[in-house]
Amino acid sequence: MTRPLTVADLAPPSPIDTRDLRPPPRFAEVAFETYHPQHPSQSEAREKVREFVLARRWRHRRGAAPARRRPGWWPFGAPAEAGAGLYLDGGFGVGKTHLLASAYAAADTAAKRYVSFQELVYMIGVMGMERAKAELANLELLCIDEFELDDPGNTLIVKTFLAALLEGGGAVVTTSNTPPEAQGQGRFNADDFRREIQSLAASFEVLRVDGPDYRHRSSLGAWLAPERLAWLTAHERAPGPRLVLGWDELFELLRGVHPTRYGGLLKQVGTVYLAGARPIRSQNDALRFVHFVDKLYDLQVGLRASGEGALIELFDASYREGAYAKKHHRCLSRLSELLAEAPEAGEPLAEGREPAGQVVG
Ligand SMILES: Nc1ncnc2c1ncn2[C@@H]1O[C@H](COP(=O)(O)OP(=O)(O)OP(=O)(O)O)[C@@H](O)[C@H]1O
Ligand SMILES: [Mg+2]
Repeated sequence: MTRPLTVADLAPPSPIDTRDLRPPPRFAEVAFETYHPQHPSQSEAREKVREFVLARRWRHRRGAAPARRRPGWWPFGAPAEAGAGLYLDGGFGVGKTHLLASAYAAADTAAKRYVSFQELVYMIGVMGMERAKAELANLELLCIDEFELDDPGNTLIVKTFLAALLEGGGAVVTTSNTPPEAQGQGRFNADDFRREIQSLAASFEVLRVDGPDYRHRSSLGAWLAPERLAWLTAHERAPGPRLVLGWDELFELLRGVHPTRYGGLLKQVGTVYLAGARPIRSQNDALRFVHFVDKLYDLQVGLRASGEGALIELFDASYREGAYAKKHHRCLSRLSELLAEAPEAGEPLAEGREPAGQVVG
């Protein structure tokens, strides 16, 4: 087996390229056809989103020959449509992101991008509003995962950017765990930004998606025993490169990089072996860990982790149920799914069965 990576082997993450914004590996192959509604609101949401992308008159059709321009004649056969927004609001694991990535896949336009809300805000910040509008606001479809207004800064940035995109005839589909009018509550003085939040909310038709957490249909994941983690680290031929690190090392790494760059770090890794998880005392570190798990999840990087106590104890009760409660609970849902993917003792490993007598944990 090749030598595992340590934190020191990771290269600095490369900057985000606006031409390369597409659904992450976990959602690269999803489609409306593979979405199996578990609740009437899910059937309705699937039909609405499907209709939204199939009924639109896309101008930059994929593979279409460039139209010949005649003076005074619209080159794409039909006039541009008005901008429009759809907002999928619902609990964890009801398949909102599955539907979002399906919309991206089904839209017959080359002028489409898929991005997380966090990445979008960060990119606009780095590029500046004018360049962001020039490069992105003329898109025909922008899919934004996890719309979450955290502070007045991102509220104003996103409001201005989306207004430009919609004005230019762009379509936006987004997902969130929070209905639009409740965005920002408890995180900043949202009442001072009521006008901006309402103007954002007015841009979208809201589809409420209810139902059970699809991730919890099968087994719930838990921390591994330390011996089991050590055994898997030494023997499991999981997708590489494999990164081996301890809990404190992880937080040193996470504190040194902006959370939107965690994806750039984790693209270098196939499976993470993490030893010694324990309750996180500070809200800031907890939010870093939430972003880390989000990226592991989206990029389909494997996680094998040993730790103490029940998963829910990872986040301290002092902040777990506060303004970021939804983020923390969503993280626990994803973490549980990731940990459940670890092979159980006696289960066949990627290359053959575990040798008899050596199964630990
Ligand atoms: N109805 C469904 N049919 C098929 N697969 C589903 C369905 N709902 C969810 N899934 C799958 O379950 C997993 C979780 O779904 P997804 O990430 O889309 O949920 P979500 O609503 O975006 O959750 P979160 O709020 O945590 O972001 C994904 O792998 C997704 O493909
Ligand atoms: Mg999601």
